[in-house]
Amino acid sequence: MCPLKQTTNYHMKLFFPFAVLLLLTPYFLFSQNNMTKAKEIVSKMTLEEKINLVVGMGMRMGAMSMPGGAPNVGQTMDKVPGAAGTTFAIPQLGLPTTVVADGPAGLRIEPKRENDPNTYFATAWPVGTLLASTWDVKLIEKVGKAMGNEVKEYGVDVILGPGMNIQRNPLGARNFEYYSEDPLVTGKVAAAMVNGIQSNGVGTSVKHFAMNNQETNRMTVNVIAGERAIREIYLRGFEHVIKEANPWTVMSSYNLLNGTYTSQSYDLLTTVLRKEWGFKGMVMTDWFGGKDAVAQMKAGNDLLMPGTPAQRNAIRDAVNNKTLDIKILDENAARIVAYILGTPAYSKYVFSNKPDLKQHAKLAREAAADGMVLLKNHQSTLPFVNIRSIAVFGNTSYDFISGGTGSGDVNEEYTVSLVEGLQNAGYAIDAELKSIYSAYLFDYKTKHPKKSFLEEFSNPTPYASEMLLENSVVSSKAAASDVAIITIGRNAGEGKDRVVANDFYLSKAELKLIDDVSNAFHAKGKKVVVIVNAGGVIEVTSWRDKVDAVLLAWQPGLEAGNAVADVLSGKVNPSGKLAVTFPVKYEDDVTAKNFPGKEFPEKANAGQFGIKSIPAEVSYDEGIYVGYRYYNTFNVKPAYEFGYGMSYSAFEYSNLKLSSSAFKGKLVVTADVTNTGKVAGKEVVQLYLTAPSVKLQKPSEELKSFGKTDLLQPGQKQTISFVLEPKDLASFDTNSTSWIAEAGTYTVKIGTSSLDIKQTATFQLTKELVAEKCNKVLSPQVELNELKK
Ligand code: BGC
Repeated sequence: MCPLKQTTNYHMKLFFPFAVLLLLTPYFLFSQNNMTKAKEIVSKMTLEEKINLVVGMGMRMGAMSMPGGAPNVGQTMDKVPGAAGTTFAIPQLGLPTTVVADGPAGLRIEPKRENDPNTYFATAWPVGTLLASTWDVKLIEKVGKAMGNEVKEYGVDVILGPGMNIQRNPLGARNFEYYSEDPLVTGKVAAAMVNGIQSNGVGTSVKHFAMNNQETNRMTVNVIAGERAIREIYLRGFEHVIKEANPWTVMSSYNLLNGTYTSQSYDLLTTVLRKEWGFKGMVMTDWFGGKDAVAQMKAGNDLLMPGTPAQRNAIRDAVNNKTLDIKILDENAARIVAYILGTPAYSKYVFSNKPDLKQHAKLAREAAADGMVLLKNHQSTLPFVNIRSIAVFGNTSYDFISGGTGSGDVNEEYTVSLVEGLQNAGYAIDAELKSIYSAYLFDYKTKHPKKSFLEEFSNPTPYASEMLLENSVVSSKAAASDVAIITIGRNAGEGKDRVVANDFYLSKAELKLIDDVSNAFHAKGKKVVVIVNAGGVIEVTSWRDKVDAVLLAWQPGLEAGNAVADVLSGKVNPSGKLAVTFPVKYEDDVTAKNFPGKEFPEKANAGQFGIKSIPAEVSYDEGIYVGYRYYNTFNVKPAYEFGYGMSYSAFEYSNLKLSSSAFKGKLVVTADVTNTGKVAGKEVVQLYLTAPSVKLQKPSEELKSFGKTDLLQPGQKQTISFVLEPKDLASFDTNSTSWIAEAGTYTVKIGTSSLDIKQTATFQLTKELVAEKCNKVLSPQVELNELKK
């Protein structure tokens, strides 16, 4: 077959839809014109109206109501039941109520309403970690577009996502809502998502800005970090999304950063976000976040959510006693008005309450299969060939987890379990096992009835421990079935970080199940496949040698079982790659020493919602060495490295070319990728850069660009091209508070993972280059003992 040559320039590809979007949507929500109009409207407001606008209307959670204290003439918090919050309407000035609702994996609203036969289910999309593992920004933009359509058709104005904090430590409960340990993957994926969602003319709220990397003491923890780590690791993803996708809103985080609540930090919300990056939109707090409403106004945190009467009083008092300049309140209010002017609510969009959920489910299935990562495939166990009957083990196989818990959960109509998916694909499932597991799970659920959101939040129901089966049952299944599948399930979410025992590590019962099933099936010359159904990282080295194949299915949304079956059957050739490292042991992760930090229980107080408020601090001593930047630089061998993932096909890299051997403001890198396998497949091509270390230490390599090939037929070749700009070469120099690229030799490494580099080439930078000068802000108040090479 004659190889096809195609050229893909990923920077160009991102740019083109962006230009089209500018024409199609109210993209310049915060344009000069809109701001002028907004300011005019604010100039007609009374002080009370301004206060009503900057403080949200409060919140309803099931039967519990927490009004924000605004006069409720003509107001409603109930336009969309189950939404997280609303803004105040001022009908005489033409301003309607607007509605904001969670979350990163799809719209979170109440699916059923009193005295209403209709349903309001939304699509549970694959979780953020899975989407990032696709490394496919075109696909993610499509998902965003469909997600945004549900936002619009259910009458919501802003979706509270994407979540884009760095997955600093494997135990972070909300890692499933976030994308990666790497800021470039995070930023590019988030930008694609925001562009997709906002192409509908609804808004996003990129969250949680910034450094909300743990749930333990999330509302009190002071994150102590160095400026370089803050800029290069924790802010960089947000910087990408602000510059490449113009999100309508940003949500500040709960934590303090170097001694100041992020929602009260002028340096973060105004100096960096607005002045340095050019953000024109509105900032809202996370729910009940921060302490001081007046400091929040001054910092540029325009909207306090969900809004409390105390915040209204504090702002009114401060204006009256002149500790808050009315001009500041006017600016906050104007940014909120400018946002309102761009909403569907303002243009009186007649929403249908009938998004095309069937079509969206198809896309959810496609995206889910695309982000699954094949971790192990001994002797081509997968895809299944000549397999008809399957013995399916593990509780989660029968109760598959579509997504995590808390505000990142979605109220979908159904989740296709693994067994359902396998049956839909035509496999015969062992009926006895199915009935044993179903009875066990039914019994567990009867003994642990569903709790309210808040009860679950403060005291999550543990999942059923893995059921132990008689040896005779397992061996009879080995005799009767062609293959065994075992699912290992994990769930987590807002409010409570994961733990090491029986969570990061497998439980004794799970390990015994793997032993028993592997022994019995291998004795009969049959294979065993493990499916990992988790939102984050687990330990794999102690058990992976016992089984033949491991598929990391993540939490794949409502079409879960169908998508897993697509990969197992070979209908889809896996092309997902890890956007987070799988360590051998928990302690191998450099952040393990400093997670979740120190508590000061003697200073604790009652807190909110029955959750004690304990002051705490966490020191990011690892500095910039987060994730693969640590493992690779310090030669700590992970179980599976960043960027890793197998395919049913094989790819060859060739013809790496640089546009020049010296960097002169820009460099174009091209490489050819050929499918040398027997089946069609896609490959994620990763560009890492090793920079010279003159006065600054550098990680051994850092991801600077990536692309995904089209579906390549056997023998087909594609040229992938990347562009390197000055800032891609640069590191943040704390002394000069600027991004500098040091002079010397740079090595471009094109790889299929961060450790599997296929081709390298070098170029020179003859003179140090200042890529950007920044402000001296966000400095730590105490001395930090940051890790050095
Ligand atoms: C979460 C946010 C969420 C908000 C509204 C908070 O508890 O941290 O991510 O958007 O609630 O539900």
